[in-house]
Amino acid sequence: MKHYLQFNDLTADEYAHIFARAKEIKRKFKSYERYHPLADRTLAMIFEKASTRTRVSFEAGMYQLGGSVVHLTTEGSQLGRSEPIEDSAKVISRMVDLVMIRTFEQTKIEAFAAHSRVPVINGLTNEFHPCQIMADIFTFEEHRGSIAGKTVAWVGDGNNMANTWLQAAAILGFKVNVSTPRGYEIDPKLLGSLGLSQVKNRGSSYEFYSKPLDACQGAHLVTTDVWTSMGFEAENTARKAAFNDWCVDRKMMQAAQSDALFMHCLPAHRGEEVEAEVIDGPQSVVWDEAENRMHVQKALMEYLLLGKVNT
Ligand code: CP
Ligand code: NVA
Repeated sequence: MKHYLQFNDLTADEYAHIFARAKEIKRKFKSYERYHPLADRTLAMIFEKASTRTRVSFEAGMYQLGGSVVHLTTEGSQLGRSEPIEDSAKVISRMVDLVMIRTFEQTKIEAFAAHSRVPVINGLTNEFHPCQIMADIFTFEEHRGSIAGKTVAWVGDGNNMANTWLQAAAILGFKVNVSTPRGYEIDPKLLGSLGLSQVKNRGSSYEFYSKPLDACQGAHLVTTDVWTSMGFEAENTARKAAFNDWCVDRKMMQAAQSDALFMHCLPAHRGEEVEAEVIDGPQSVVWDEAENRMHVQKALMEYLLLGKVNT
């Protein structure tokens, strides 16, 4: 049994398989071709934080595969009344075939997985957002071909998205240029535990830049995220001041490759982390990115429950 708790829970070969399946599953969806490999299977979705895309993509995706879903929130379940996560895992995983969790600390989802009888998927934690990065890379490859050897510019917070981009770069062989404001860098402890080391000018892994414009030079993809992630709202005022120069604008896009793409996992704040003319402009693929959450997650659920299905 496999869990998907962080990006490096799967290998490059497994990603190649999932992306091939996502392409086929997307084709079936677009042509209204019925595909019900998960008939009689149930997915429990546990949300300890808000969501639009993750909720809709997992729920619609599971129904489209012939399965059904149970939606739980902290407030509406005993999780909000201090039932231990381990007990919740033991109970929920006796009744369903698959669990998706969006929560706070990574240690919480790891504790759940350790006591679960069924595969557990990370739908976002403070540390990682692997389903989103999987969708982002699938989207990049749909538009531009293989991401191997390419450069991604990360402009903004050293958050769950940034951490996951770094994991993905090491696995799939591309480079991330990271520019975060001082005080909001990627957690060095996390970098150590990921076993990632900074490689300069070698076409892979990552490099830090103090100026966001420098990080965008020659990039094939420019991407950013909200200044204040869920769970960090108390820091909002300080963050607004610190992140003022980390707004992806036309100049940053001009510094990147002429055919560079722009991505944002959404929800976005126009005028904060990105100018409206960039996110709503011709280089932006944010709507494809959001839609592809569903297609890659359907392929992921198929893989976790049925193994390698032939394409
Ligand atoms: N990008 C993403 O995970 O969106 P939601 O918070 O709406 O699920
Ligand atoms: N970094 C953001 C992503 C939201 C999808 C957050 O954690 O709130």
